[in-house]
Amino acid sequence: MMREWWRDAVVYEVYVRSFADSDGDGVGDLEGIRSRLPHLVSLGVDAVWLTPFYPSPMADHGYDVADYCDVEPLFGDLPAFDRLLAEAHEQGLRVIVDVVPNHTSSAHEWFREALADPTSPARSRYVFRDGRGDGSLPPNNWQSVFGGDAWTRVPDGQWYLHMFDEGQPDLDWDNREVHEEFLRILRFWLDRGVDGFRIDVAHSLYKNPAMDDARDPLPGEDPGDVTSAHVWDREEVLAVYEEWRALLDGYTPDRMLVGEVFLFDVPRIARYVSDERLHQAFNFTVMRTEWDAPALRTTLREALAHFSPGTWVLSNHDLVRHVTRYGGGSLGRRRGLAVSALLFALPGSPYLYQGEELGLDEAQVPRDRKQDPWFLRTAGANPGRDGCRTPIPWDSAAPGLGFTTGEPWLPFGEDAAALAVDRQLTDSASTLHAYRRLLSVRRALLDEGLPDEVAELATAPDVLAYRRGPLVAVLNTAAEPVQVELPGAVLLEATAEGAAVAAGIVTVPAAATVWLRA
Ligand code: NOJ
Repeated sequence: MMREWWRDAVVYEVYVRSFADSDGDGVGDLEGIRSRLPHLVSLGVDAVWLTPFYPSPMADHGYDVADYCDVEPLFGDLPAFDRLLAEAHEQGLRVIVDVVPNHTSSAHEWFREALADPTSPARSRYVFRDGRGDGSLPPNNWQSVFGGDAWTRVPDGQWYLHMFDEGQPDLDWDNREVHEEFLRILRFWLDRGVDGFRIDVAHSLYKNPAMDDARDPLPGEDPGDVTSAHVWDREEVLAVYEEWRALLDGYTPDRMLVGEVFLFDVPRIARYVSDERLHQAFNFTVMRTEWDAPALRTTLREALAHFSPGTWVLSNHDLVRHVTRYGGGSLGRRRGLAVSALLFALPGSPYLYQGEELGLDEAQVPRDRKQDPWFLRTAGANPGRDGCRTPIPWDSAAPGLGFTTGEPWLPFGEDAAALAVDRQLTDSASTLHAYRRLLSVRRALLDEGLPDEVAELATAPDVLAYRRGPLVAVLNTAAEPVQVELPGAVLLEATAEGAAVAAGIVTVPAAATVWLRA
């Protein structure tokens, strides 16, 4: 049997608003993405995941969907989507689209019907409840992820649940009509030819039907985290993905589902993935792990034990960019590249976030330019996610850095011009060239045949080393070079200068990964 494409696919996340703007309005769009496909092909990724590009009031930058089967005019139209899909396929790239089943936008036709008529069938597709006391208090104390009450009162006196912004009312998955509608939406995009779906907040959908209060937060504890136990990871959600999987299994060539299962209990994440459920779930545990060899070793051990193979995520449009998490600037870039190279060597599917191939740092977005509802709803107590969503710098000499001919919707990061694609292309020591080399060697090794089995090699405390068939990857987290004995090894790649092999002794530079054939 042919190995399924998604098992080792390198998937590149395009945050549509910030990738490339073709019409000068300062916001990225589908035509812009189409014009930049060659960048993705030469980078060596296998698939592109597009964040939501559907009609939306943009209360959460597209994760508030008003119509699941159309394109937001800011981003283009359906013919533009079809052109992008066809061209991506011609260039050998698969396309994954985002599906947002936990909530719609408050501008969705269903929600408008639900508000207009409390007796309409649409009302029971959402979570409406009476308030407490005289009705003026929310039904319970649940807190929205973005801060504040998870309930908003409507003019007829009832309250509706929204785990995120009030413009994102939660759907009621106990209502069969909701299931049928999402099967229809999936079919709509499958029939157009998409290769898969990334499922937003895949671990939610069902809420505790008792709707009882969450316990009081402990001192210093985030009230939103206390609500989690009532609204995340209920057993019922797994049956939804069994239905979706059965639908996808009827399509050829094969399509895939990857769930944003935002949990940190690895065995619980693993429940979502099977031949009857999701093909993949994001594993965010590496993203939460610091630059520390014992911590990384423990995280990787657990991931490798529960997923065969799984996913690797260091950054995305919700997280502080990993270059910044690892110390920022050239130090953060060097460490980030080293960890990426280690993950690329392991079985599984790496998910790259746009700009990580350039080594971008988190941008410092001035408060008056911030747009994230998380920042706005918490009056700035949460810094928000704008800093990882600033536009991609393509051309250091162009106004708008080749992203736009207009005013970009978010300012560029401080390092943008210096790290622009054009500059990195002329510098063989750039992060971009390192990514290209690593992904091309990885592809060649996979084509030769790399097993999913991987053995951890015992080396030094600051060092992580894994053998996978002929490939050995060694990460040195120390601030000095280390030497590792590996008879017969041949150097394939290194993420920093100074790597060497002599008489079976491998020198791994400080904060670097080397790949060897052994
Ligand atoms: C997860 C998405 O990645 C994030 O950007 C969004 O705000 C929430 N889900 C709500 O849809």
